[in-house]
Amino acid sequence: MSDIAALEGDILAAIAAAGGEAALEAVRIAALGKSGSVSALLKTLAAMSPEERRQQGPRINGLKDRVGTAISARKAELGAAALDARLATETIDVTLPAREAPAEIGRIHPVSQVIDELTAIFADMGFAVAEGPDIETDDYNFTRLNFPADHPAREMHDTFFFNPKPDGSRLLLRTHTSPVQVRTMLAQKPPLRVIIPGRTYRCDSDQTHTPMFHQVEGLVIDKGSHLGHLKWILAEFCKAFFEVDDVKMRFRPSFFPFTEPSLEVDIQCRRDRGEVRFGEGEDWMEILGCGMVHPNVLRNCGLDPDEYQGFAWGLGIDRIAMLKYGMPDLRAFFEADARWLAHYGFRPLDLPTLAGGLSA
Ligand code: DAH
Repeated sequence: MSDIAALEGDILAAIAAAGGEAALEAVRIAALGKSGSVSALLKTLAAMSPEERRQQGPRINGLKDRVGTAISARKAELGAAALDARLATETIDVTLPAREAPAEIGRIHPVSQVIDELTAIFADMGFAVAEGPDIETDDYNFTRLNFPADHPAREMHDTFFFNPKPDGSRLLLRTHTSPVQVRTMLAQKPPLRVIIPGRTYRCDSDQTHTPMFHQVEGLVIDKGSHLGHLKWILAEFCKAFFEVDDVKMRFRPSFFPFTEPSLEVDIQCRRDRGEVRFGEGEDWMEILGCGMVHPNVLRNCGLDPDEYQGFAWGLGIDRIAMLKYGMPDLRAFFEADARWLAHYGFRPLDLPTLAGGLSA
């Protein structure tokens, strides 16, 4: 075998053995670089006789060309292998569930969601939202609402009282949202149409009672407001809230110091293996108290009962939230257990609207 053939064999073997681009480059420099083996052969052409050069020229140049071609081919091969290896490490499993962004992990408490739902329903009927403080005076919580002093109804409310002030008066945690009726009538001129969602407090605790709970009060005052309006509003509310086409309601006579007449309202339901369904069935469930605002209350709030009349209602928010969303234990509402909230809570962007569906 000639020297050239032996050199070619060595170089091609080195090219084939180059495991990476750097190794291949070293082989190229050793062969075709300035002081490479092939370049050295090319230089020998200059000293040859024309006869010899005619013979050796094509052989050496052929060698140079084949080495160059082999290097390019190997380079392409190594490039493709490197790309394949990179792609193999960068594969994305598109079937994996999307990871939630931290801002999307938070949940809206069912009570907040239900307050948003109520507000959407009543806002659609033209109601504004009114608010008052959790710490109330005895006057607003009881006296102006026509609870006579020492009346047993004050005890019925299991009130949390603060220590008496030097003048003998004592503040309390409001036992219902009704004092905000008083505040609204004192602050605004009729016609009034407000709902009053908020926290209320009573010294009571079991599976369906917690010392802090939520009510939504409604108040309408105008010259011609009557029980028919009240019944229509409550029926529309129940249908919208429970998302049923029809709901039967039953009004029973009752007593509240601040309304006359006073009524309690039951809605038709079916109790089925621990579940309650509305808009069907033969059972009844009490959901709220209501009535025509007592003339004494109007008077206590600076309104003339001969000119104005109105109606009001009070409804337990936690209870209707439990019914609507199948949450069996009220106490869990206020235990701040993140697992409970992850299960029963609502996504922050699921804003209830009548157009979009309340709980869709
Ligand atoms: N305040 C009452 C309670 O907590 C509920 C209530 C009943 C409110 C009748 C009203 C009403 O406005 O008219 O038990």
